[in-house]
Amino acid sequence: MASPKWVAWALLFGLLSSVLMSSSSSPDPAGFLQRAKESEFSDWMVGIRRRIHENPELGYEEFETSELVRRELDAMGIAYKHPIAVTGVSGFVGTGKPPFVALRADMDALPMQESVEWEHKSKVPGKMHGCGHDAHVAMLLGAAKILQECRDELQGTVVLLFQPAEEGGGGAQKMIEAGAVENVDAIFGFHVTHELPIGVVASRPGPIMAGSGFFEAVISGKGGHGALPQETIDPILAASNVVVSLQHLISREADPLDSQVVTVAKFQGGGLFNVIPNSVTIGGTFRALSKESFSQLKQRIEEVIVAQASVQRCNATTDFLDRKHPFYPTTVNSKDLHEHFQKVAEEMLGSNSVIERQPVMGGEDFAFFAAAVPRAYYYFVGIKNDSRGPQYPVHSPYFAINEEALPYGAALHASLAVRYLSENRSSSPSNANVHDEL
Ligand SMILES: *[C@@H]1O[C@H](CO)[C@@H](O)[C@H](O)[C@H]1NC(C)=O
Ligand SMILES: *[C@@H]1O[C@H](CO)[C@@H](O)[C@H](O)[C@H]1NC(C)=O
Ligand SMILES: *[C@@H]1O[C@H](CO)[C@@H](O)[C@H](O)[C@H]1NC(C)=O
Repeated sequence: MASPKWVAWALLFGLLSSVLMSSSSSPDPAGFLQRAKESEFSDWMVGIRRRIHENPELGYEEFETSELVRRELDAMGIAYKHPIAVTGVSGFVGTGKPPFVALRADMDALPMQESVEWEHKSKVPGKMHGCGHDAHVAMLLGAAKILQECRDELQGTVVLLFQPAEEGGGGAQKMIEAGAVENVDAIFGFHVTHELPIGVVASRPGPIMAGSGFFEAVISGKGGHGALPQETIDPILAASNVVVSLQHLISREADPLDSQVVTVAKFQGGGLFNVIPNSVTIGGTFRALSKESFSQLKQRIEEVIVAQASVQRCNATTDFLDRKHPFYPTTVNSKDLHEHFQKVAEEMLGSNSVIERQPVMGGEDFAFFAAAVPRAYYYFVGIKNDSRGPQYPVHSPYFAINEEALPYGAALHASLAVRYLSENRSSSPSNANVHDEL
């Protein structure tokens, strides 16, 4: 049992260290989290998130969001490059020398109407931050502040990537083409999720998000009177059989342990009760967790559409629309970085709060960064709070962020980068590839 005297010393020491802590954080994961939870710090992140939420901007139109990001970086004294890929920004904290580790946030909103009634509801009809990117930006700015406060202890450079157009516009690819990840050794990114409570994070080594693509097919026959089918070539029946056969690619051809998806989500043709149309257009999406399965699936989708249409004497053409919607590669997490993530996150949150999860069949623009950088890691940050009643998933018009989650994303981002740099400090700084702009 501690004597009263020791208790007094301990209290004094605790008081002193929390006084010291409020001006700058100690560079360890738990210290970072404590710093990000201080009310002034977290209120600042909440303010940023709400301003972005009120003014959602779609892909490549994130002009005001980008300006807000730059204003905050200016206020912190962080150097950055802009514009990259129209609205993108990349900030730099640290020595300006290798190793370079990148942290990424996406800035774009969705073309949907918000149904949540609250003070900071979207002020733009038909646009909403329904995927949490407003929170991602606020959390990366939070990480920037933490990193800037301990910049003298960084053993390399953290690159802060604020990217446009994650929702299908290929913003990451454009950032890469503009050189945003040149010399970057490792990159981290995350998504908020209602599947996990606040304070819990999750990921896995290997594939975490699916490779994804779209297809569209026109199945043409010969229209005519609905009462005289013998004089027509019915594309409705042919297209229906195509839809059914496409499902057999998953149930009969794919390894049951190698997850894949084919969804036909568009089926258009005809308009009257007694007229067989000339053609039917179908379209959908396909997903896989490896490059090989993805290209196999793509090839078989085209073969099945053409061959199955021909059974009913129809012709078919298939378009994968990959000029307009480039295929997303599978997002693959590095095994080394998974261990790194577990160590750092457990230090911050405790081992029960760091869990391994299944891959998700959603696509993620981060995959392009992951493919362009030697090592990448993508994870999920919980935002669920059961005492807040029902909570809706991303892309729902009722989606809402629990803002108490912001410090967790900010502190984990910062910790993963700081620790990565200290464990990969450059052995030969003399021949370093210094970023020119610094
Ligand atoms: C399918 O294409 C062939 C070759 O171009 C053509 O002869 C035939 O009429 C087409 N059939 C239909 C139903 O469009
Ligand atoms: C959950 O929400 C309640 C208010 O409804 C709040 O008091 C509590 O701190 C929140 N929990 C977390 C972990 O942020
Ligand atoms: C760099 O850091 C990662 C993450 O901690 C670690 O897995 C890896 O071994 C380090 N690499 C080198 C060359 O030190």
